Amino acid sequence: MDWERIRRDFPVTKEMAYFESAAMSPIPTPVFEAIMSEYRKLVEWGDANWCRDLERLNAVKSVCADMLNGREEDIAFVANTSTAMSMTGLSVHKKLEPDQHFLTMKDEFPSSTFPFSYLGIPLRTCEPDSARYSVSSLLEQINSKTAGIVTSYVQFGTGFRQDLLSLGEELKRRNLLFIVNATQGFPYFHIDVKEMRIDVLAASLHKWGMTGHLGSLFYTAPEFRAKYPTAVAGWLSIDPGEGLVPGQMNSSPEIHSSAQQYTLGTINLQLLMAFKTALDYIQKIGLDVIRKRLFTLTDYLLDGLSDCSVEVISPHRSYAERSAIVSFKVGKKSPECVTFLRKNKIYVSQRNDAVRAAVNIFNNFNDLDRLLDGVQNFCDKIPLS
Ligand SMILES: Cc1ncc(COP(=O)(O)O)c(C=O)c1O
Repeated sequence: MDWERIRRDFPVTKEMAYFESAAMSPIPTPVFEAIMSEYRKLVEWGDANWCRDLERLNAVKSVCADMLNGREEDIAFVANTSTAMSMTGLSVHKKLEPDQHFLTMKDEFPSSTFPFSYLGIPLRTCEPDSARYSVSSLLEQINSKTAGIVTSYVQFGTGFRQDLLSLGEELKRRNLLFIVNATQGFPYFHIDVKEMRIDVLAASLHKWGMTGHLGSLFYTAPEFRAKYPTAVAGWLSIDPGEGLVPGQMNSSPEIHSSAQQYTLGTINLQLLMAFKTALDYIQKIGLDVIRKRLFTLTDYLLDGLSDCSVEVISPHRSYAERSAIVSFKVGKKSPECVTFLRKNKIYVSQRNDAVRAAVNIFNNFNDLDRLLDGVQNFCDKIPLS
């Protein structure tokens, strides 16, 4: 793979060493051109293509479904993961017994958890062991009042990647719900919703989807929708029968049985169309090739960090638990280190009390050397205690 050619598709690389894809991936030029072309159609044709674009959206759903081993009709796009989790919570809430709870992880991003707690759904938090949540430790926390587990695939702060396959199998055996926030894992890391027995999966696409702020992918298993149909609806959730617009006086509207029920109304079709270009771009490189590259880059970074006075907090002994995120603490001075690096055009972020660096397909070893030199320079200059 000619990684330098890929790098040229990302103008951001001329400006800085960019390690913030876990916040938002920059947009590569072919995707930017697709966005422009979709918006140009609005300029030149107004609403004339809207119905056709709604049809084209099915092709985007179909690509996502193939990547997840789901079905096109199980995919929806919603404004963000907080919305997807709120919709899930609203559906489930009605059918929970008052003393039931969900298990979740202590360092979850709040869009996995806050929607549930705000609705009054009790959450019990599992504590990590050196940033890891082993499946066995989670199973130990389950009791007769547990309704299911809400977890990220990849933890946003540490990059720990959960073993969804083992966890999903165990939950299915116990007839418990499995709700996954795949924001920091999709599309690069393997997900098979069927094998992993996932009931609900949401992924904010602005992280690794390379198309800007386009919303979240929202997968629901058909059995989940049958048992917990959407608690909110809009005109596009309803099967109109004939034509496009359902009759306004229709007093008992028929909700789509597919995930279309979650598409309440009009959404940003332009960015979603361009997202297909991003997925095609990624798939042309190949997901296996990408994962290998990410591990090569993070191996190099971890190796370099072992020579610096930092504490790597990302679990990194096993590739199965690793992701594109490497987080480390620089004594008590991680926030100052982030500021120092950014001043030197090395773009990392602070999450909790650590420096978070996320590598992507456009990063090269030169970027990593800049980051490592930057961290070393900071440690040399600043007393860390
Ligand atoms: C794991 C995770 N989930 C979700 C989000 C974003 O949530 P939302 O789509 O609700 O803005 C982030 C980061 O912003 C994240 O790191």
